[in-house]
Amino acid sequence: MKPSYLPVNKESFDDTNSNLNSKKNKIISLLKENFDFENSHLRTSTKKGEGILSKCNNYEAPDQAKKLGIYPYFREIESNNGSQVVIGGKKVITVSTNNYLGITKDPRVLEAGKNALQQFGSGCTGSRFLNGTLSLHKTLEHEISSALNREDTIVMSTGFQANQGTIACLLGRKDIAFSDRENHASIYEGCAVAPGKTVRYRHNDMDHLEYYLKKYSDVEGKLIITDSIFSMSGDIANLPGIVKLAKDYGATVLVDEAHGLGVIGECGRGVTNYFNLEKEIDIYVGTFSKSLGSIGGFVSANAKVTEYIRHKASAFIFTAALPPASVAGVTAALDVMLSEPERLKKLHDNTAYIKKGFFDMGFQINNNQVPIVPIKIGDEALTLYLNQLLFDDGIFAGVAVSPVVPSFNAMIRTSYTCAHKKEELDQVLTSFKKLGRKLGIIPQ
Ligand SMILES: Cc1ncc(COP(=O)(O)O)c(C=O)c1O
Repeated sequence: MKPSYLPVNKESFDDTNSNLNSKKNKIISLLKENFDFENSHLRTSTKKGEGILSKCNNYEAPDQAKKLGIYPYFREIESNNGSQVVIGGKKVITVSTNNYLGITKDPRVLEAGKNALQQFGSGCTGSRFLNGTLSLHKTLEHEISSALNREDTIVMSTGFQANQGTIACLLGRKDIAFSDRENHASIYEGCAVAPGKTVRYRHNDMDHLEYYLKKYSDVEGKLIITDSIFSMSGDIANLPGIVKLAKDYGATVLVDEAHGLGVIGECGRGVTNYFNLEKEIDIYVGTFSKSLGSIGGFVSANAKVTEYIRHKASAFIFTAALPPASVAGVTAALDVMLSEPERLKKLHDNTAYIKKGFFDMGFQINNNQVPIVPIKIGDEALTLYLNQLLFDDGIFAGVAVSPVVPSFNAMIRTSYTCAHKKEELDQVLTSFKKLGRKLGIIPQ
């Protein structure tokens, strides 16, 4: 079925048309005529006399995108089975998932969650600090510390809060944070609310990091912060380089292993383990919302550090504790992760297979074990359009456009799990190849 909203007619999809570039440009200009990309970035200003809500009243981009049929967000998932989901009654393969170990429906995880729900009820109705700490939280903290070789761990309600709360309470007025420019928004927010200063070094650029460390060498409190695996590019942080500089300049290192845990290292212990740097990384932050298939986050460090964070981090103290079913489910999921390394092996096999497929097609792909595979398109209009065509063709992928990525660096973000079957990966590759050629993104 050809959706009526598409801004190109059938002829422009005719493979005999030799000029792919002009076809591509035509699509881009047609979309840009009807879509206000400036407005989509929420740069609308408050108009005089219209009050604070004028920015909302004049924000047209979502409606425009919906009318054009290229709106990619908030798709309603009606059911899922790991590698496939049903959206609007249509079964599609999902390559928009962080369920890397295919764990969300594991019977052991579900059983643990059900039992905890029965025993402790639906929620903690209070902060960990006062009345929300259950024996379940303490068990999970103990299990994480032991799995990651850490003295102590604090379980928090989200990974976002684990980053934000930890950074905000550690970075004092006279301290300075050195943060990779591609770090996650929760790290940006932590730095923004902290009283200390933050400088942002170029992505994974050790020379630039050293430049800043040298410049601020007189500052006593220095904190280097990096994602271990960057959520959009799928790059692995240069942890050996960071650790060396941290030693040279007397800095502390905080690593966000949100996409490292369950994905890399021995039994999925993360990039810290992969580089054999467990002793050198001072603070290990993680999330339960990806490989462990749930919600929640944690911070692990030596006990003096965690005890401070436990009593000082607002994002931990002033929010309700992670509910019983989630805590118990995560504890069971961690056990599955550690005891079934074959899941990680399958994840790496799937990753290698899909990356080779994309590479052979002409896409520039990171040659690493990371199951985040961004397909760089560049132009935002073309990216949104391709995303919609992929969906129509049975592939549910994510999009990243400005300001999530820099302007003209738009991408389709694909990610994989150990649950994907080879036939499904082949279908993804076939769709990308067919549509990439038709839109003039890859050569014939
Ligand atoms: C790198 C990174 N850090 C932290 C988070 C936040 O994790 P959570 O979803 O548990 O709040 C995310 C999730 O998007 C992430 O990608």
